[in-house]
Amino acid sequence: MRTNVMTPASLVITALFCAASFLVKAQTGDKSSPGSGAKDNDLPVLVRTGSGAYRFLVDGKPFIALGAQLWNSSDWPYILEKEWPQLKELHANTLEAPVYWQNIEPQPGKYNFSEMDTLIMGARLHGLRLVLLWFGSYKNGSSQYAPEWMLSRPEKYPRMRNASGEEIQVLSAVSKVNREADKTVFAAVMRHIREVDGRQHTVILVQVENESGSLGTDRDYSEEANAEFKKEAPPALLRQLNKPAGSWEEVFGTQAAETFNAWYIASYVNEVALAGQKEYALPMYANVWLREHGFRRPGEYPSGGPVSTMLPVWKAAAPALAFISPDIYHSNFTVFSELCGKYAIPGNAFFIPELGKGTDFARFEFYALGNYDALGVAVYGIDPFHADPGDERDKEHLDDKFSLMADNYRLLQGAIDKIAELQGTGRLRAVGEEPGRYEQLVTLGGYDILFSFGVPAYRKKTGTGRALIGHLGDDEFLITGFDARFQFRPQYGSGYSSSEYLLIEEGYYEKGQWVRKRIWNGDEAYHSTLTPDGTILRIKLRKTKKTNTGPVKANFE
Ligand code: DGJ
Repeated sequence: MRTNVMTPASLVITALFCAASFLVKAQTGDKSSPGSGAKDNDLPVLVRTGSGAYRFLVDGKPFIALGAQLWNSSDWPYILEKEWPQLKELHANTLEAPVYWQNIEPQPGKYNFSEMDTLIMGARLHGLRLVLLWFGSYKNGSSQYAPEWMLSRPEKYPRMRNASGEEIQVLSAVSKVNREADKTVFAAVMRHIREVDGRQHTVILVQVENESGSLGTDRDYSEEANAEFKKEAPPALLRQLNKPAGSWEEVFGTQAAETFNAWYIASYVNEVALAGQKEYALPMYANVWLREHGFRRPGEYPSGGPVSTMLPVWKAAAPALAFISPDIYHSNFTVFSELCGKYAIPGNAFFIPELGKGTDFARFEFYALGNYDALGVAVYGIDPFHADPGDERDKEHLDDKFSLMADNYRLLQGAIDKIAELQGTGRLRAVGEEPGRYEQLVTLGGYDILFSFGVPAYRKKTGTGRALIGHLGDDEFLITGFDARFQFRPQYGSGYSSSEYLLIEEGYYEKGQWVRKRIWNGDEAYHSTLTPDGTILRIKLRKTKKTNTGPVKANFE
């Protein structure tokens, strides 16, 4: 069954792709039958370093996703064609795109991978990596993406019920039938990805479901779920949480309903992920509709999802997930920092699959990479082809609100490999201009580095100061950023009182090699400025014991 319109360009891409897949199979001999645990070389993988930091290795090298996510209904060939130029304008290296169960399995057991193939081939042709978002049983606390043949037969594919016993549009996670249906199709999806992409690794990561949980009820009150709720809480969960035996209500009290839902949904997602990994073992994760809004009542946000208070339950029930990732749209620095603190924790690698757009989020991208070792960030809704009929924005170009993100990605591309190497070593920091914060002191690599932000005459924007500081080696630093000035002094108490610049080079990294664009020197060296267009500087210093350090420069001159 075909439901999409194939344009000539997408037909060409699909044809090319089928030929390419055939070649891949021919080259590999395709000896491995699906599910036989084929050995794919250098699969993308999440590893931990000796210090406990996480690294995401793609083709064997540390990788940071500078990403963008499409609107929900945009992963269709005729729209995708218009996305590629915008992704280029954004300078993204990774695209996050949904794949829809309802489209992939239009009839039970009959698969259609045509649109997914167009996506994978298109991304590959455009030099982008892909994070696939499996819109399966759960999407934003509901189940609208399950196929029609499931949704129209709740007697066979049971739904959750709310506390009043009314059926809601959320598949029951207690139901084995639902679970098996999702496992089977997801296994087929992963098998297909391995067949067409097992060597190229265009697809590097898979999100299993989307913002799982149930909107409209704190737990499933279906007959089957009620029977389970009356039983003792599972020993496997209690062991992990270090809790004594007892019923759900006895052990978890007011959190019993949400914990029950979390256990069943996380176990369901875990089984789906495992079924997929048996076919093709890419790292997988779950994203979160946060609870940090409003009255924080489960059911007003998807109950049973991996919200901060349910993280331990998800970690116990879903070990197949490499990490749990928050979708962050809060534009307040304090809230953003609190959320990072909740998800960037030992035992959970940090990744932001959905991030808001605009000036605040441009700074937050820097904090995520520099202060929380994020494996990647992705701005949400990059394309202007979403559902709002009143949207009169230019359809050819990126929305203005993405322009600072485009600046970020353009600049960061020139230092990203180095930044990825520095993550988790304690030698990387981020600074940024927050309301009322016009200067920031960073102590790193034996130096106190004072950043100042502000509005010199030549600047029109505010809130755009942001920088990453990497300590490359003795007296050597890499500074990447925008709209800021900085001064170095030896760390207070080090015995040194001041420092000299030996070399300030502006440039970028290409294939691991530093490419010098110019050397800053003379009067200009002491301006030490990161420009509005962005600057990458490599700096060598020498500490001295001179007593006259001179006054600290004013913020703006
Ligand atoms: C969060 C969801 O995860 C996305 O799929 C999308 O629906 C956005 N919200 C819309 O803001």
